Amino acid sequence: MTVFGVDAVQSAGTGELVVGAKDIVTPLARELARERGVTIVVASAHPPSSPVTANQSLPPAPVAVAPVFARPSSNGSQSPPAPLKPPAPALYRRGAPLHPAVAPAALHEPRTRRPELPSAAKSVGRVVVVGAGHVGMITAMKLAEANIIEEVVLVDIAEGLAAGIALDLTHSTALLGFDTKVRGVTSLAEAGAAEFVVITAGRARQPGMSRTDLVEVNAGIVGALARDAAGISPHTVLLVVTNPLDEMTHHAWRASGLPANRVIGMAGVLDSSRFQALTGLAIDSSPSSVRALALGSHGDEMVIPLSQARVGGTTITDAIPQAEVTALVDRARNSGAEVVGLLKSGSAFFAPGASAARMVLAMATNSDEIIAATVCANGQYGIADGYVGLPARLGRTGLREIVELPLSADELASVRTAAARIAERVADLEQMAAPA
Ligand code: 2OP
Repeated sequence: MTVFGVDAVQSAGTGELVVGAKDIVTPLARELARERGVTIVVASAHPPSSPVTANQSLPPAPVAVAPVFARPSSNGSQSPPAPLKPPAPALYRRGAPLHPAVAPAALHEPRTRRPELPSAAKSVGRVVVVGAGHVGMITAMKLAEANIIEEVVLVDIAEGLAAGIALDLTHSTALLGFDTKVRGVTSLAEAGAAEFVVITAGRARQPGMSRTDLVEVNAGIVGALARDAAGISPHTVLLVVTNPLDEMTHHAWRASGLPANRVIGMAGVLDSSRFQALTGLAIDSSPSSVRALALGSHGDEMVIPLSQARVGGTTITDAIPQAEVTALVDRARNSGAEVVGLLKSGSAFFAPGASAARMVLAMATNSDEIIAATVCANGQYGIADGYVGLPARLGRTGLREIVELPLSADELASVRTAAARIAERVADLEQMAAPA
């Protein structure tokens, strides 16, 4: 008994395929014969009176039989096809897309090639995350799990650290249901060109330190990375996470030479998320029922315009007493320091890492949502220029639009004050960084 599959029909060209009475012709082979006008002739002890048309009843179709991978034998003759284990029955669903392993082209592939299993379509080629500390690790993990990026590359100068984390993360792909490639290297050059580069590298705060205490050491790290990243990926978008965030984002912009729309800071998403979480806990409601945007600076001048904040569909100050809301804003503003105080060593990483990934994914998908981002103002909210946290729409090329919301006079004044304080700190940084 022989099984005749698509291969046998292809070999028959436009002629006929002679099969024995007990042989099996797969449904795909019959379909291909119909398409190609190949006549399937059932030979028997008594020569057939007439050829069997492809539509005429044939020997019973197999319930689930693999197409035949007939391979010419060494002397070029067709060796009898070796029966193969049945493929997924879906292969025979009418109109079912051919599994790549049995698509006509694949039939002639050397058998050693592993059939490419379908993988989720990836809309982004590569994202590089610099710094394989806790924040970088979480960022890489959340990006990989989103399964829309071909390759996430973690970079860290510590030998083996990024590679070890990348391998460990790769071990979770089947478990967590993604097939993003994750690689770990020790340099941006090894990582290669990327559509997005997330900079998390730098010293983290220790108890008693302010973010500003990090400015000198981290400016050197962030400046060099921004410059190198722009050199390797001239069209990349830099997302800065390193603290002090506002100053580091400005510094990365200056050092990279990239246009301002392609250098963005991650802070408002984190601060907004903290406020949502704390408010949800305070009113025993889901944090996703709380909508708020943290603007201004990532620090003392962080501002949450309450006129724009909602619980469900209700303005927040109609749902929660003003004093309680103010206390929640204060706690969100100081949440970074609160976590540092509890950890005793290092700073927060789950929420910062998830926030950084969230921003990259918003850019990767050209999301229309309004997201809090540290961006370079250009007159919006009466702020002539300089980096500050504002409502924004992000896309594949970074900042698409700064969205001007109808803030109250007080809220507007607070955002402008934040911008002015950041500008002062940036001026101090530039003076410090200026060659002696
Ligand atoms: C924080 O606020 C590290 O800036 C980050 O926790």
